[in-house]
Amino acid sequence: MEIALFSLDGFMFLLRWLHLFFGVIWIGHLYYFNFVQGAFFAETDASTKSNAIQKLVPRALWWFRWGAMFTMLTGVIYLATKGHRDGFEIFATSWGVAILTGSTLGLLMWANVWFVIWPNQKVVIASATQAASGGTALPEAAAAGARAGVASRTNTLFSIPMLFFMGAASHLPMAVNPNANLWIITGVFAVILGALELNALKGKTGVMTTIQGVVTSGFSLAGVLYILIEVLTK
Ligand code: HEM
Repeated sequence: MEIALFSLDGFMFLLRWLHLFFGVIWIGHLYYFNFVQGAFFAETDASTKSNAIQKLVPRALWWFRWGAMFTMLTGVIYLATKGHRDGFEIFATSWGVAILTGSTLGLLMWANVWFVIWPNQKVVIASATQAASGGTALPEAAAAGARAGVASRTNTLFSIPMLFFMGAASHLPMAVNPNANLWIITGVFAVILGALELNALKGKTGVMTTIQGVVTSGFSLAGVLYILIEVLTK
């Protein structure tokens, strides 16, 4: 008896399933932080906010960062398995262009979680804990919170085109010319995404400050990246 799940395709399907499970955990928390918690913190009283930073935020951040880690791992293992099974020239197809775009966005987001948001949030949590136990707040906490905020807003911005291209890989066939020079699109995307990531590391939230602003920007970025692919891969 052949059992579908006990094959390479079955293994890849299990990876995809786990990838979606962890992805929901990660992006669910990202949207909770950006769409719910920020507005609540802005209007609640100081002691409720301090309590939440000490007892709620660390729990949410635990699910958030480990969700990110396992989403990334299952995605990368899937990529490697598919490359191994189908040959690495698969990355120069419609599937490849879409999944490499989605994965680049996802990997930038993962790096922002682990190397920007989490280290800065640890400072914010330590500061609130110290202040609540009679000490003084850490002087660097405000800047740390602001930096985590810009990176988090950038991840919300990236998440919208990221989901578009993740889904597009297997469900939106694009007419990518096998003779197209894919270095052009790679260079253009490196400039656009590099500039946005640089802003996450050094800049301000700007148009992403409001929920409407970040969501509108995310859909616009998805549209721009998609049009560039259609134009530059012919
Ligand atoms: C962190 C880096 C990430 C990498 C390297 C990655 C990689 C992949 C790969 C290789 C696929 C399979 C594409 C295919 O053959 O159809 C995929 C699909 C997908 N991924 Fe990701 N991914 C990442 C992050 C995310 C995140 C954060 C989410 C959020 C939920 C996500 C959601 C999806 C979805 C919805 C699909 C489509 C599944 C389908 O069409 O059946 N991915 N990803």
